[in-house]
Amino acid sequence: MRSHYCGHVDRSLIGRDIAVAGWVHRRRDHGGVIFVDLRDREGLVQIVFDPNSPDIFAVAERLRGEYVLSVEGRVRERPEGTANPNMVTGEVEIVATRLTVLNQAKTPPFHHDEPASEELRLRYRYLDLRREPMYRNLRLRHDVIRTLRAFLDEAGFVDVETPMLTKTTPEGARDYLVPSRTQPGAFFALPQSPQLMKQLLMMSGIERYYQIVRCFRDEDLRADRQPEFTQLDLETSFLDENGIIELMEALIRHTFRAVLDVELPDPFPRLSYAEALARFGSDKPDLRNPLELVEVGDLFRGVEFKVFARPAEDPASRIAALRVPGGGRLTRKEIDDYTALVGRYGAKGLAYIKVNDAPGGRDGLQSPILKFLPDEAIAGVLERVRAEAGDLIFFGADRNAVVNDSLSALRDALGRDLGLTAEGWAPLWVVDFPMFESDEKGGWSSLHHPFTAPRDPSPEALIEDPGGSVSCAYDLVLNGSEIGGGSMRIHSPEMQSAVFELLGISAEEAQAKFGFLLTALDYGCPPHGGIAFGLDRLIMWMAGAQSIREVIAFPKTQTANCLLTGAPSPVDPPQLRELGIGLRTRRGA
Ligand code: AMO
Ligand code: AMP
Repeated sequence: MRSHYCGHVDRSLIGRDIAVAGWVHRRRDHGGVIFVDLRDREGLVQIVFDPNSPDIFAVAERLRGEYVLSVEGRVRERPEGTANPNMVTGEVEIVATRLTVLNQAKTPPFHHDEPASEELRLRYRYLDLRREPMYRNLRLRHDVIRTLRAFLDEAGFVDVETPMLTKTTPEGARDYLVPSRTQPGAFFALPQSPQLMKQLLMMSGIERYYQIVRCFRDEDLRADRQPEFTQLDLETSFLDENGIIELMEALIRHTFRAVLDVELPDPFPRLSYAEALARFGSDKPDLRNPLELVEVGDLFRGVEFKVFARPAEDPASRIAALRVPGGGRLTRKEIDDYTALVGRYGAKGLAYIKVNDAPGGRDGLQSPILKFLPDEAIAGVLERVRAEAGDLIFFGADRNAVVNDSLSALRDALGRDLGLTAEGWAPLWVVDFPMFESDEKGGWSSLHHPFTAPRDPSPEALIEDPGGSVSCAYDLVLNGSEIGGGSMRIHSPEMQSAVFELLGISAEEAQAKFGFLLTALDYGCPPHGGIAFGLDRLIMWMAGAQSIREVIAFPKTQTANCLLTGAPSPVDPPQLRELGIGLRTRRGA
């Protein structure tokens, strides 16, 4: 039916008779001659129907957008002055000698070149995917996956599939449950990740495992989260933390080079979790943004200004300054908007000092808080942040988490709004995470997952000081987005039990949920570790897209619906009865 793709027809084919097939992208009637831009996945080509072939011409007159055609014709150079430099095939056209309408089409709900709402795009996703940028994204996804697989194959990794109908794997989200018909009242959980299975594969001696695998997490969705998403999941035995980090770095560098022709830094920089929070307020800072937080708490001890004096004395609080070069230009209204932004992260205000003149003291500064602060504190701040004329210095003073969350959001916004964040690529490893953080109820929760090994191999040391223990975990951050996370794993039953105990998981509960893992640890478990990359996120960045939905063929909405199929949807009562399930409330009731 086709000898060439539309998008591949070029000068080299002039004079040849060829066959193309595709969709009517646009039809133009130029008084006596009809032009059709025919489209397939590779691009557009112009077809000419001239009235000298009256049969074909009559059919061409009735063509409409998105009709599916098969066309035969001769390729010719476009007449002088009619070449289109914006089209790859713009120097040639096909004069049709045969035309078959393979199918008609209704007027589509949106046109290719005009912006449509995301709702409409998702409802008619098959039409949306006909658009060139979407096809390009899917092709890029294919290229990335092909490249990753080839590299991993070369490095001795074996692709092993793991079950979708399984037991809970705690990655911090709610499970999607699947009722069992054969055991009424019992449920499978869809995997939040293949974490435990890949650890078991290490105990099976597979040595190097990988899988490109769907994971399911029922959590609040954002632009970079989907309820089902794809991981490149890996695990290795007998390789230490550094070995894994270096191998993974090589994988990512190779992929960027092969797919995008981009050379990433070698090695990627590494930051400890503590340093990342101190300097950027975030464990996934965008290093393309030059702004940094500077600790100034010690300068405000004992000052009259209570907003600063209180956090200056409190070990669980911090006062950080953020110097914004050129920020002196910000208007009152803009500063108010930034104050509202940090307010969303719990900050009770956003103090600032404008530096009008080269610093010498109070003169030349402008700020509502100056009058509350002693000279030494002001001079100390100016010196520590290396203030220059034209700067604005913002302050956050509160509990650590509030300052970190609010000032890192402010840093992102300023980098974007003032054009300070550079283009390009900034990969970063964040390492030395704490094992645990304290939760609201005063207990401990894992920063990664409960199978992450602490640096110190002694279970007693862990129980002694859970808050101070550091884990062998590492996250890969790209341009301020966490694209991968992994760790060395616990490979002794004693340590695993100690971690469960600290997390408030009783021995009985641990047996019920993870007994198979604890048992397996007793039968000769090799030291092992691994990582999982969020493939959708990685590809989103590589595609230059704003949302992971742009690189997933059939994504779900923010409320976890599929607008195309209408899933999730109610099921018939008999089907529920068979599963032993009764609904307390009907949908919409
Ligand atoms: P983690 O939970 O950090 O680790 O997940 C790994 C990576 O998956 C991506 N990711 C997501 N992407 C899209 N939508 C989501 N809802 C979503 N949730 C996570 C992120 C993240 O870095 N088993 C461990 C890995 C390991 O320890 O080896 C795990 O799943 O990019
Ligand atoms: P107030 O005394 O509440 O009027 O605050 C005086 C100045 O300090 C204002 O500019 C506030 O925006 C700012 N401010 C108040 N609380 C904080 C805080 N926790 N961190 C930083 N600045 C604050």
